[in-house]
Amino acid sequence: MSYQIIIQPSGHVFKAESGETILEAALREGFSLPYGCRNGSCGICKGKIINGTVDYGRHNEETLIEEEKQVGKALFCCASPLSDLVIECHEIGATKDIEIKTLPCRVHKLELVATDVMIISLKLPTNQRLQFLAGQYIDILLKDEKRRSFSLANAPHDDEFLQLHARNYLGGVFAEHVFTRMRVKDMLRFTGPLGSFFLRDAPEDTSIIFLASGTGFAPIKSIIEHIFYQEISRSNKRKMTLYWGARTKSDLYLFDLADKWQQEHDNFTFVPVLSESLPTDSWNGRTGLVHQSVVQDFHNLETYQVYACGAPIMVKAAYHDLTSQCNLPKDAFFSDVFTPSVNNL
Ligand code: FES
Repeated sequence: MSYQIIIQPSGHVFKAESGETILEAALREGFSLPYGCRNGSCGICKGKIINGTVDYGRHNEETLIEEEKQVGKALFCCASPLSDLVIECHEIGATKDIEIKTLPCRVHKLELVATDVMIISLKLPTNQRLQFLAGQYIDILLKDEKRRSFSLANAPHDDEFLQLHARNYLGGVFAEHVFTRMRVKDMLRFTGPLGSFFLRDAPEDTSIIFLASGTGFAPIKSIIEHIFYQEISRSNKRKMTLYWGARTKSDLYLFDLADKWQQEHDNFTFVPVLSESLPTDSWNGRTGLVHQSVVQDFHNLETYQVYACGAPIMVKAAYHDLTSQCNLPKDAFFSDVFTPSVNNL
């Protein structure tokens, strides 16, 4: 059984399945309501039920007191509808609406997925979740007030652990720390979410090209997984093509994941591109610079959006060539540039 929920004052409408919380359903359907802990402790998700009835769910009694319930207040991370609802709350429309926090976290898991790429999973303190838009990044706070930026590779709805993709490179002192001395259970501090690389609204028939080099795949993974999550309840799906470029096959460190997306989603195409494939790669796929594959495949990108992330040289060349040779509107190109930081610990 599903219920219709209308958000006031925006008038946005979404559906919640029985047993699903108001927050879960809103996020799944692409409406960003504010939240913090997602377990009834912090009160950030508190809003008003103007019409209809809810099951308040398990929550901290001090976070939502009886008097508040009597005037219609509810914690949207815990409350699930028992009827169609009209609710009142502030929706997050842009990054400026999201609180930037400084939080401690613990290294939960370290996975070496290529010789020079480590996937770090971070666990936040109990009662803390980080609200962010898919594509944003955090700054790990180092000694002497130095920082190291990492894109969040997990999607916002999948926020039990924060996932970072760290590449090892010459002179990267923090990178070297990750690959040699960092251990599970180490404590870190970070600030975030930061950045303006996130999916923009567009008519539903606007197709998307994702362009990643190396670990520039991380924020793009977050955006794509978030789109798939939101598509569950939509009939109209945006066409997406991911071009992921690297030197060798093993540098495409989550190749199987991208390939699985392609097998499971009709609207998604994966184009891996290698620039220096090895004989052992037995590579029959695309070769050369990743953005040039897009130029070869698309002559007219007038109705597209392009999201590019990775090395500065790739992002710069992609912007130039796609806007000058393929009719991509300049305001339809969104990018995040990865610049190596050296001597920063
Ligand atoms: S009480 Fe913290 S997000 Fe709901």
